[in-house]
This record gives sequence, C-alpha cells and structure tokens, in this order.
Amino acid sequence: MAAGIARLNGKVAIVTGAAQGIGRAIATRLAAEGAKVAIADINEEVARRTAAEIKAAGHEACAVKLDVTSLDSAMAAVERVERELGPLDILVNNAGWDKLELFVESVPETWDRVIAINFRGVIHCCKAVAPRMQTRGYGKIVSIASDAGRVGSMGEAVYSGCKGAIIAFSKTLARELARNHINVNVVCPGPTETALLQGVMAEQPKVLDAMKRGIPMRRLGKPEDLAGAVAFFASSDADYATGQVISISGGLTMAG
Ligand SMILES: NC(=O)c1ccc[n+]([C@@H]2O[C@H](COP(=O)([O-])OP(=O)(O)OC[C@H]3O[C@@H](n4cnc5c(N)ncnc54)[C@H](O)[C@@H]3O)[C@@H](O)[C@H]2O)c1
Repeated sequence: MAAGIARLNGKVAIVTGAAQGIGRAIATRLAAEGAKVAIADINEEVARRTAAEIKAAGHEACAVKLDVTSLDSAMAAVERVERELGPLDILVNNAGWDKLELFVESVPETWDRVIAINFRGVIHCCKAVAPRMQTRGYGKIVSIASDAGRVGSMGEAVYSGCKGAIIAFSKTLARELARNHINVNVVCPGPTETALLQGVMAEQPKVLDAMKRGIPMRRLGKPEDLAGAVAFFASSDADYATGQVISISGGLTMAG
C-alpha cells in the first residue's frame, strides 16, 4: 500500500469473512491505514491467526466468531467488537460463498445457502451495525458484491442474483442513511485469486484460462487489488460518495 497514509487513524472497523482471501487483504489494508480492525469470520481459528499477523505488524486487531447467516450471531459479534475496540465506524460486508452449477441443474439446498450467506448475511450485519452508526451520526458501510451482480455469470445464477440484490439494497440504504452521515457503497471484484475461486473452478481449468483472456489486463485479480477501493470508501475521502458501485476487475466489466 502507499506508504505514510493514515486516513483511518482512530477508526474502528469490522470486516466479515476476513480470515482469508479478499477480506484478509481488506482488513490488513484498513489496519495499515490506522484503523483498529475486527476479523469477523465463521472460521475462528484462521481469524485468530489473521488478527495475530495484523497485531504483529504493529496494529490493533481482534478476532471474533461470526456466522453472517444468523442475525443473533451478527448482533453478538458487533456487541463484542464494540466492547473490545470501541464504537464501530466502518462495516465491510465481505463474507461470501458460491458453488458453480447451471441453474437448471441447481438444487434448493444450494440456493438457500447461497442466499443465506451472500444476501441475508449483508442484511444481518447492516441491521446489527447501522442503528449504532445512526445514533452516532457517522458511518461507512462497504459491501463486496461481484461483477456477476452487474452483468451475470454462467453457472452462478442465484449467486449473481444475490450480488445484484446487494447493489440494490445498498442504494436504498444509502438513501435512507445519508441524512445520518452514513455512506453506503459497493465494490465489485472480478475473478480474483482466492480459495473461493479455486474451489469454484477446481473442475473447470479451461474456464479460468478463457476468463483471463477476456480480461483487458490479461490477469486475474489479487486480493490486494480490492483493498484500495474499500479503504477509499471507508475513509473521509469518500464523504460525498454514496450509493455507488465500482468494479475492480482489470477492465472485465465497464458498466455504464
Ligand atoms: N474470488 C473471486 O473471484 C470473487 C469474485 C467476485 C466477488 N467475490 C466476493 O468477494 C468476497 C470474498 O471472497 P473470497 O474470494 O475472498 O472468498 P474466500 O472463500 O477466500 O473467503 C471467504 C471468507 O468468508 C468466510 N465465511 C464464509 N461463510 C461465512 C459465514 N457464514 N459467516 C462468516 N464468515 C463466513 C470464510 O470462512 C472465509 O474466510 C465474497 O463476497 C465473494 O463473493 C469474490
């Protein structure tokens, strides 16, 4: 990251699904910019490891167990983070999951899980955090959607629906919360080198090659590629930007 930037000094952030992948890169970046960061993840063991790495780099962090599919879990995690780190200024909704299946072959069990993690998860975390931000008259909410939610993606019909839903939900929340000085924005990754992509593409190596060829920058994203856009929306540099959607995907999607 750019050296010497401390835009987030004194801010407290919670990043969901931050144990690994894109969430981990986002949490690391927010901490490097001065924020105290909660690594909130269903995988508590890996979350603890990530928090320890951030602390070892000289920043403040904690790990908290969170299952975004449960509103109770979101409420409890937020309560605990505020006790440990202080009032939350920043929520990054990053936890996500998918399974590649053509829609006609897909089954309700997959839909339920995809919807519970990707869309209800965002709703739960916003419900847990937004009223607290509203009371304090300040907040930054950044949700990680996907280019799939803007232009669709083969084999990811329900996932794409959830990501599109995150975009529409965020725009509405942005309108409702603007008067409370809470900004709500969305960052859309394209295909990015993480465990999620590896899992989804395990049996489709040719699809991955075709994807790379379709990206104007001719490479997959790295988790760190996403972190700067999230840090921007989480900072006061973005005080006058709300309800916005940005793709960070090497030019793959140039939505108007
Ligand atoms: N990797 C890509 O190509 C890509 C592309 C577009 C969008 N995205 C989105 O980026 C985000 C991060 O994905 P990633 O690629 O880093 O995935 P990843 O699988 O590497 O990491 C996801 C993290 O979320 C956590 N998680 C899963 N279910 C959870 C739950 N119920 N509660 C709390 N935490 C949970 C996992 O434990 C994991 O740490 C997701 O929202 C994903 O949809 C990824």
